[in-house]
Amino acid sequence: MSVELRLPPEQKLIAELQALAKEEQAIALAIDALQTGHFKHPDGRVDHLANVRVSLGQAGLLAFLAKECPTFLSVEVGFGMGSTAAILLGTRRLQGKPFVHAIFDPFGLPDGSGKIVQSYLEQRFPKAFRRIMKSSETGMAAMIENRGPECAGLVFIDGGHRFENVMTDFVLADQLLALGGYIVLDDSFFPAIETVVNYVKANRPDYAVAHLPVPNCSVLRKVRRDQRSWDAFKPFEVPQRENWTPSRKLPAQAES
Ligand SMILES: C[S@@+](CC[C@H](N)C(=O)[O-])C[C@H]1O[C@@H](n2cnc3c(N)ncnc32)[C@H](O)[C@@H]1O
Repeated sequence: MSVELRLPPEQKLIAELQALAKEEQAIALAIDALQTGHFKHPDGRVDHLANVRVSLGQAGLLAFLAKECPTFLSVEVGFGMGSTAAILLGTRRLQGKPFVHAIFDPFGLPDGSGKIVQSYLEQRFPKAFRRIMKSSETGMAAMIENRGPECAGLVFIDGGHRFENVMTDFVLADQLLALGGYIVLDDSFFPAIETVVNYVKANRPDYAVAHLPVPNCSVLRKVRRDQRSWDAFKPFEVPQRENWTPSRKLPAQAES
């Protein structure tokens, strides 16, 4: 069994995020985009988020964890509209240390949304922003080969949403993750993602787990190295809900 991870309450996370927005334009623009549904590039162009939006609580949680990131490298799976990338990049810059934030996503959104946000992030963070046009499955595996294990302090997973996508992302993120680092799973209201959280809770005592510290998100912290025997397996609960059936009624903003 994993131990429970304690994190600040949602309202505190949001208040801290709003304070960061006063110091970093990328965070202010991302918050405005999450609230209005439109990312307004300072050059006048506008990108439309539709339902690809995290809540302010989720954004605040990511900012809190970005402050704690113990390594040069942080990683994200799924660029989407780039809102979470903007929050992570902006918060990491405010820590005043060199860093790189690498995002795997070879697809982007079907209607081409997100390109204006990406061009903003490229300009604003020319050294730190890396969009890698590979799937997380091949991209994170190559990153483990190239940079070695335990090189990342924060991995945010919001890419493919089927069970095997998220489980593969967890397995690779676990290898990339440094001791003390965090894996964040978006969309953990939903059964495929909740199943991965349940696997970790039952089988991975090397992780402390906060399930739903804010709506629709779970956090896993690597608190020690994996010392299980080769045959270790503990049964875990698989929610008996299909497809995109949430564990509770969704707030309006947590739909993707
Ligand atoms: C829900 S969006 C991410 C939203 C993002 N967090 C934001 O703030 O806008 C999911 C993204 O994951 C990408 N994706 C899907 N499967 C993927 C995979 N196997 N590897 C990397 N990215 C993937 C999609 O192209 C899409 O852009």
